[in-house]
Amino acid sequence: MIHLIWDLMTIEFVVVTCIAILFGVWVGFYAAKPRSLKGKHVMITGGSSGIGKYLAIECAKNGAHISLIARNPTLLEEARVEVLKFASVAEQKVSCFSVDVSGPYDQIERTVLQAEEELGPLFLLANCAGYARAARFEDTSVEEIKRLMAVNYFGAAQFSHAVISGMKGRREGGIVFVSSQGGLCGIYGFAAYAASKFALRGLAESLAMELKPYNLTVTVSFPPDTDTPGFAEENKNKPEETRLISETAGLFSPETVAKVLLDHSLKGKFISTVGFEGLLQSVVCIGMAPITSVFDLLVQSFTMGIFRLISSFYLFKFDRIVVKCMENRDLKKRSQ
Ligand SMILES: NC(=O)c1ccc[n+]([C@@H]2O[C@H](COP(=O)([O-])OP(=O)(O)OC[C@H]3O[C@@H](n4cnc5c(N)ncnc54)[C@H](OP(=O)(O)O)[C@@H]3O)[C@@H](O)[C@H]2O)c1
Ligand SMILES: *[C@@H]1O[C@H](CO)[C@@H](O)[C@H](O)[C@H]1NC(C)=O
Repeated sequence: MIHLIWDLMTIEFVVVTCIAILFGVWVGFYAAKPRSLKGKHVMITGGSSGIGKYLAIECAKNGAHISLIARNPTLLEEARVEVLKFASVAEQKVSCFSVDVSGPYDQIERTVLQAEEELGPLFLLANCAGYARAARFEDTSVEEIKRLMAVNYFGAAQFSHAVISGMKGRREGGIVFVSSQGGLCGIYGFAAYAASKFALRGLAESLAMELKPYNLTVTVSFPPDTDTPGFAEENKNKPEETRLISETAGLFSPETVAKVLLDHSLKGKFISTVGFEGLLQSVVCIGMAPITSVFDLLVQSFTMGIFRLISSFYLFKFDRIVVKCMENRDLKKRSQ
């Protein structure tokens, strides 16, 4: 009996100590004060719509000067007016530049130069421009496969290339990449898209190691389905399987995704996700990602095994969806 009480007290002591340590680490690293954007220049590709536009709005609230990059000049101008309404300081500037991120590199270099002349040296580059096409691989044209890579991957690589030397010289700021949950986990119908989003993670991981000594941070966001014009477009001819599988993570608002992303970026976190599925996926897929928070490192270390086990239920469910849809199609074909 005495033994049992003694054991229980020891366990309790260990648990309480662990919680206290975790809390200390959380306060020290996780709840760390984010960097300020006041008076800083933030450049957002894909800033005229969806996640990029809401990111611009968040930056405007934080007192930043903002340059918006996209192709359609009308949408850009509309976004500029909307973003400016959220400015918190009178002298804040918002400029827009009509450029194709997958276009010639000299055009991109010129855009960066011009934007820095107008708004000052760049503090943060957010690569949000991108799009999704959901289709079985054999139904995706080779042109589309190349286009997805050109916009989603090369677009971000080109802009990052154009700003890095300047940023390294100034030793402050960072780069943000918007990948996707499809950039952590390949699912039915996203073969071409997922490849372009996986590529961003490789770029980001290497860059993070190169830029860290220069006081620069790299953040990759892996958003779930987000309610944007781009998402509405993507849904127009999405295979049933893709819709059912990606729906399991829920639908988020672009405000939420942008807010969380900016907070993570200003705190220098490498991985940014929202929701429980996002956390589960990021832990299971953490690999050799840079450590930017000791709290996260502890969470990852203690939950990885159990999260992998939980992931098997998801994968089982996804495989069932694929089989079910195939059966339904066969049934329909036979009854015709
Ligand atoms: N919505 C989702 O469910 C979801 C989920 C995961 C990841 N994402 C990713 O998040 C990012 C933003 O998505 P979103 O849903 O907010 O899309 P969106 O509403 O369609 O906005 C896309 C933005 O990118 C710009 N853009 C597209 N292609 C471009 C190009 N070649 N050059 C320059 N600008 C270009 C668009 O403007 P123009 O067309 O005028 O150029 C627009 O400003 C994308 O990378 C997307 O893959 C979205
Ligand atoms: C690192 O960047 C922050 C702002 O992002 C700045 O306050 C700090 O002085 C920089 N540190 C060094 C060593 O340059």
